[in-house]
Amino acid sequence: MTYERDNIRRMSAYQWGEQPDTDEVLKLNTNENPYPPSPEIGRALTSFNVNALRRYPQPTADRLRQLLAELHELREENIVITNGGDEALRLALTTFVEPGSAFGMAEPSYSLYSVLADIQGATTVALPLGEAWDIPRSFAAQLNEAGANLACIVNPHAPSGTLTDVDTISQLANDFNGVLLVDEAYVDFVDPALRYDLTRLVNAFDNLLILRTFSKGYSLAGLRLGYLLGSPGLINPILNKTRDSYNIDGISQCLGEAAVLDRAYAEDTWHKVRTSRRTLRDQLIEFGFRVAISQSNFLLAEVPLDFVMSAEEIYQTLKQSGILIRFFNNPLMEDKLRITVGTESQNRHLLACLEELLQP
Ligand SMILES: Cc1ncc(COP(=O)(O)O)c(C=O)c1O
Repeated sequence: MTYERDNIRRMSAYQWGEQPDTDEVLKLNTNENPYPPSPEIGRALTSFNVNALRRYPQPTADRLRQLLAELHELREENIVITNGGDEALRLALTTFVEPGSAFGMAEPSYSLYSVLADIQGATTVALPLGEAWDIPRSFAAQLNEAGANLACIVNPHAPSGTLTDVDTISQLANDFNGVLLVDEAYVDFVDPALRYDLTRLVNAFDNLLILRTFSKGYSLAGLRLGYLLGSPGLINPILNKTRDSYNIDGISQCLGEAAVLDRAYAEDTWHKVRTSRRTLRDQLIEFGFRVAISQSNFLLAEVPLDFVMSAEEIYQTLKQSGILIRFFNNPLMEDKLRITVGTESQNRHLLACLEELLQP
């Protein structure tokens, strides 16, 4: 006997990365920022007025929306704050995808997308990416053909870290008949010299949503805070209809404000990650892995066929030595390992272990 809806009974659950409850493990598996959050977060937390918890929080997190509007040079009606980027994705599916209709994504990308589509009772149309993880030219046309009203792409791409340029995304938003959600969970780690900035398209397209999160760039994955940027026509139904009235608790609003006000601290961590990313990639290539150029805080290392160990064996052996990286057991990814960029000393430890185990 089951009381689940049919589609819930049939669907497979999302497989989250291992989250060991100890600092003994070197955790390079779920793309957290290796540096602690700003000291301002600690100060805001200790001075938080506990009596304020008696009341419901400000329903639409207005002060945080104001700060983010200033940061992105947009207006408050362009922003909705969510309980992590994951809630933003769920809300986009709930708001824009009819059960039984098509939802578009690229394959591979964040595996939660299709799980959320299953929950919504939608059919996932997953289109393969090109050799260099590039979005195929026919992407929009194929999704239009399938009748998709929402499509998610992730930029920089996960799990490869490669970046699609603004012009390509602009063309996609132009050609696609539905809502294009660009998941920018890792955008803070993009090299500023590339001048990548999609926020300037928000006022140009009424079908573009941009997802941001405090989890990675601001070292606040444990807080669960994210947001969507978009035209008022897309933000309004989420803000006022599909979202839970009090989806952002008072403490999260307060700490999110402190994080934005001390963005300079976070920027410094992004700079350090970018520097370490370069060294780590060079070393992995020296070991014989193929590694795409990443604009994110992780690298995707491809294990050549003639290597001393398979990707899964490397993952398992490192795990036994107390180092967690990510192995995805599916045909597209089974020769690859996704490695979060750690601090300099964490990366050195990983490389020393790898060197030892890869010795012939
Ligand atoms: C591509 C991508 N999008 C969105 C998220 C959601 O992050 P969060 O819910 O922590 O904001 C993640 C988390 O790992 C991710 O990898």
